[in-house]
Amino acid sequence: MTVHTTPTRPPIPPHVPPHLVRDYDLLSWTMPGSPDPYDFFASLHGDARVFYNATSNTLYDAHPKGVWVFTRAEDIRTALQAPDIFSSVGTVPFSSMIGETWPLIPIEQDPPLHSAYRAVLNGIFSPQKMKVLESWVRGCAADLIEKLRPNGGCDFLEEFARQFPVAIFMQLMGLPAADTDQFNTWEIELLHSQDFARQSQATRAIADYLRALIARRKVEPADDLITLCINAKVEGRPVSDDEIIGMCFLLFIAGLDTVTAALGMQFRYLAMNPEAQARLRADPTQVPNAIEELLRRFSTIISSRFVTRDVEWAGAQMKAGDRVLFVTMLANLDPAEFDEPMKVDFERSDIRHVAFLYGPHRCIGSHLARRELIIAIEEWLARVPEFRLAEGPVPQAHAGGVFSLDRLELAWS
Ligand code: HEM
Repeated sequence: MTVHTTPTRPPIPPHVPPHLVRDYDLLSWTMPGSPDPYDFFASLHGDARVFYNATSNTLYDAHPKGVWVFTRAEDIRTALQAPDIFSSVGTVPFSSMIGETWPLIPIEQDPPLHSAYRAVLNGIFSPQKMKVLESWVRGCAADLIEKLRPNGGCDFLEEFARQFPVAIFMQLMGLPAADTDQFNTWEIELLHSQDFARQSQATRAIADYLRALIARRKVEPADDLITLCINAKVEGRPVSDDEIIGMCFLLFIAGLDTVTAALGMQFRYLAMNPEAQARLRADPTQVPNAIEELLRRFSTIISSRFVTRDVEWAGAQMKAGDRVLFVTMLANLDPAEFDEPMKVDFERSDIRHVAFLYGPHRCIGSHLARRELIIAIEEWLARVPEFRLAEGPVPQAHAGGVFSLDRLELAWS
């Protein structure tokens, strides 16, 4: 693993003591040289409870500044339950890139408004709706795998891990399958280009697409998510078009890259550990617990909040307006929380991981995500023989809001 130091270092504010300043660049560290990119996160538990990283590692800052980082699971959980101090407002400002003001809903809202929006979205993710989706999801996984199987190998990221969640998103939203490639392209521009101009263009294109769709659905309602949002009420009033865009845009960015990243990390582990594949093939009932352990061991999300008022937290003086990163990998690999945290143990019990975060914003799609991950492994193991990492390029990873592999070449005989 290479940890790059940051090229430009913004000034450190006077309230940050020098002994808490660090220079990690979580955005661009890469895997070559290290068999396990998570070694870096594990090493941070020997560091302070909280430190100040000199540059932000979030993707969406036009002018990156320093950020506070909690290293212990307990501090991470406690802070996530204090949204009055650690606020979500303005944390992922896509709309400002295109001169608009709609927030991502509900991820950029604090309670109590946040709860009203969650109530609307609960309808989409109800167990009944998920049950209907389940057989479709399984069929989609099987179709994708059957296309790859005869080839003896694939770029798993490109040919499965990206295609699968986009197809499910299109189905969930009631969007035409013919537009899938377009959404795939927008996703890459938005979340992987790391280029402000390209991200803005993709944001504009998605917002325009959603506006046109909302206008259509007002005239021709359908049994889909947009129509559900159009008919929804928040605090007794109808939801505005901007609010619908904020909800749908969030589902787009929240439900695609996250699943792709988790699939990439989990299949990389399985490809490197044939005995783990053999275990799950021999007893598929172990898959759900194995997924929880893999979500813990290889979690991928770095989230953030803004401090609302001057406060002392975990021994650090924080000022209103400071940004704090919540690194799920740090909580999930904390030795104070898990015995032998770097060990993958499919029989580990009571896996209280925070891969889906914690507190009011805990992932509302976690049930769907878990089903997607379970179905992907079940269908893959049932159809593809023992697989391994292909000779050739070492898997590359990038980190930002989502820590993800860029490619993962697999081979089987
Ligand atoms: C393995 C896959 C996934 C992971 C690891 C994941 C992780 C997360 C995390 C960490 C958050 C909290 C972010 C924050 O508060 O800053 C979150 C929120 C959210 N996720 Fe997921 N997610 C996954 C899949 C999905 C899927 C499939 C969907 C929907 C299609 C989804 C929809 C959402 C929504 C709507 C929120 C906002 C919840 C709120 O603010 O109350 N996620 N997710």
